[in-house]
Amino acid sequence: MLDTATNRPALPPEIARRRTFAIISHPDAGKTTLTEKFLLYGGAIQMAGQVRAKGEARRTRSDFMQMEKDRGISVSASAMSFDFHEFRFNLVDTPGHSDFSEDTYRTLTAVDAAVMVIDGAKGVESQTQKLFEVCRLRDLPILTFCNKMDRESRDTFDIIDEIQENLAIDVTPASWPIGKGQDFIGCYDILRDRLELMDRADRNKVAESVSIEGLDDPKLAELVPAHLLETFLEELEMAKELLPELDPQSVLEGHMTPIWFGSAINSFGVKELMDGIGKYGPEPQVQRAEPRAIAPEETKVSGFVFKVQANMDPKHRDRVAFVRMASGHFKRGMKLTHVRTKKQMAVSNPVLFLASDRELAEEAWAGDIIGIPNHGQLRIGDTLTEGEALKVTGIPSFAPELLQTCRAGDPMKAKHLEKALMQFAEEGAAKVFKPVISSGFIVGVVGQLQFEVLASRIELEYGLPVRFEPTQFTSARWLTGPKDKVEAFAAANKGHMAHDNDGDLVYLTRLQWDIDRVERDFPELKLSATKEMM
Ligand code: G4P
Repeated sequence: MLDTATNRPALPPEIARRRTFAIISHPDAGKTTLTEKFLLYGGAIQMAGQVRAKGEARRTRSDFMQMEKDRGISVSASAMSFDFHEFRFNLVDTPGHSDFSEDTYRTLTAVDAAVMVIDGAKGVESQTQKLFEVCRLRDLPILTFCNKMDRESRDTFDIIDEIQENLAIDVTPASWPIGKGQDFIGCYDILRDRLELMDRADRNKVAESVSIEGLDDPKLAELVPAHLLETFLEELEMAKELLPELDPQSVLEGHMTPIWFGSAINSFGVKELMDGIGKYGPEPQVQRAEPRAIAPEETKVSGFVFKVQANMDPKHRDRVAFVRMASGHFKRGMKLTHVRTKKQMAVSNPVLFLASDRELAEEAWAGDIIGIPNHGQLRIGDTLTEGEALKVTGIPSFAPELLQTCRAGDPMKAKHLEKALMQFAEEGAAKVFKPVISSGFIVGVVGQLQFEVLASRIELEYGLPVRFEPTQFTSARWLTGPKDKVEAFAAANKGHMAHDNDGDLVYLTRLQWDIDRVERDFPELKLSATKEMM
């Protein structure tokens, strides 16, 4: 049967109830707090405070390193599954620190929607804007949560205008705040004509909601102090006049975002947002792949790796590949084909992540995220199927913005260093380039902090002290084109050439001018800042 809205077959109920999403925000907007409340209402944790360790650990650099050492916390939070009403939510965590944005971009290829959290006092901040652009590239539906309404916040219309203007997306209010700062008492739920009142005394108490028979209901005047009621009614009238009404189809197409106002720390507005994700968030979507797209309702199982986490337990060199299921109904023990190597693999110990625990996944449906422990066979971008040679596309690898040379403290340990660096390259934690003529390795990252994290991980996980030193290069571009032309160019520019960990040729340079010159003088060669993960 065709679904009238999407003109696609209706999904099996188990798939249709899945909502796989990520939260995008600028650091400090409240992502961790909101995640915690999601887990609380999803029954995945019993008490507020269990996820906080992560938010706090991130605050200072030294604590951040501690967090990296304490892999358990950050890893279990990479993907979290929980039920809410009839829905199964799969929340995929995006690293909050901007230095890890590449990881974040890849994470966004594994979700069907994003929740954008903004701080009511700050509006759209730089990191939110960047992440939003990535969602836009994929037309991801976006639901917005304007947080910290318990504090002094900006004018509601200003916030909405800013989103509309900066992000070029229609905004429709799903709720409307009543009062500001100290005077904030709650929200009017526009979609359900309900008044939600916040309880400041008990942060973990879910708001009381009162059904209202339209805006003339006398209950409104009883519950909302007169000095707030007048402003609220005026604002709401204006909002209804000026702002578009919620159009679910437009939300699904990524052209419109509904906005909820609330206060994550006070557990306020969170359930309404969760209801919204269930109701207006998309079902698992068709996945782009070559030579054909993969539809979630296909009976054959398929999935792709969007993240690899190595050395979760430094005692065993295990790795977990995070796989987004693209189609079908997976059962534990199934044999899947690893398309890149054409080898079969029995997936006998897949894991599901439930807040701070991981447990064996007996089954998974399209939309779910499972972790597959492996010894390095699975790489970012790999596709698993029941035999068909399909390859999921669109998982980017970015040109690093910072390059440094990495040397082992003990020169005799160069081989060990190579092994460690290759492992991190496969994990996607850094780009590693082996120059064609000089010795050593050039490591590329997107943020300075990554060098420090890498140095500390190499020492911790491989017992290998390393030094990062400046290099003469500042940019790396993947080089492609007709084979003879590429070879001739590489031979004439040996001092600039290196291979990445997949053996692909990279042109290293110091100046944008060089890149422009190559593009001008060698039109048949292509220098790219991104490479699709193979
Ligand atoms: P992040 O993951 O997006 O970086 O943000 P996180 O949840 O860690 O929240 C950042 C800060 O904002 C925290 O305060 C948190 O308590 C606070 N916060 C989150 N939601 C709300 C809210 O609705 N209202 C108010 N007033 N504050 C909120 P902190 O002082 O940095 O940490 P903590 O001492 O509270 O742990």
